[in-house]
Amino acid sequence: MRGGRLGQRDIPVTGNRRKAKAVTGTIYVLNGPNLNLLGKRQPDIYGRETLADVEKACVAQAGSHGLTIRFAQSNAEHQLIDWIHEARDNAVAIVINPAAYTHTSVAIFDALTAFEGPVIEVHISNVHKREEFRRHSFVSLRADGVIAGCGTQGYLLAIDRVAGVLANPS
Ligand code: DQA
Repeated sequence: MRGGRLGQRDIPVTGNRRKAKAVTGTIYVLNGPNLNLLGKRQPDIYGRETLADVEKACVAQAGSHGLTIRFAQSNAEHQLIDWIHEARDNAVAIVINPAAYTHTSVAIFDALTAFEGPVIEVHISNVHKREEFRRHSFVSLRADGVIAGCGTQGYLLAIDRVAGVLANPS
């Protein structure tokens, strides 16, 4: 680009120099058990931001890419599975923090394998720096990307990644 300021869309994040196309659609941002207590629960590990704060930031981040968000949290495995099924018809991508179900749920893994778009797994804490049992993730067997240990910023990084993948599908 000659003269003027470089626009965000002119700068390839990777070596891919194709012009990004406009993206539209809804990202399902799903949260598993105990994340309703974010901000109150183990703030030394998970920080002081609430899930409502995270939702607000996700809506703004997605909006900056022209995308919308359906943000939801449940302590029930079946509810998360039902939302993943719903995403098959309504979502362009899933960002999921399955919380403790990450390490236990074949059912959530199976549901995600029935979803065709990009799936990004997010963990607020660095699960690899904690107890041994947190190192295994059933969800990672399906996820296209995994973000851990970046705090709640991980959700925003995941949304950026989804926008990038949708704009430049390989
Ligand atoms: C978590 C990590 C999980 O191991 C844990 O069970 C959670 C939250 C995280 O965001 O760091 O509840 O997914």
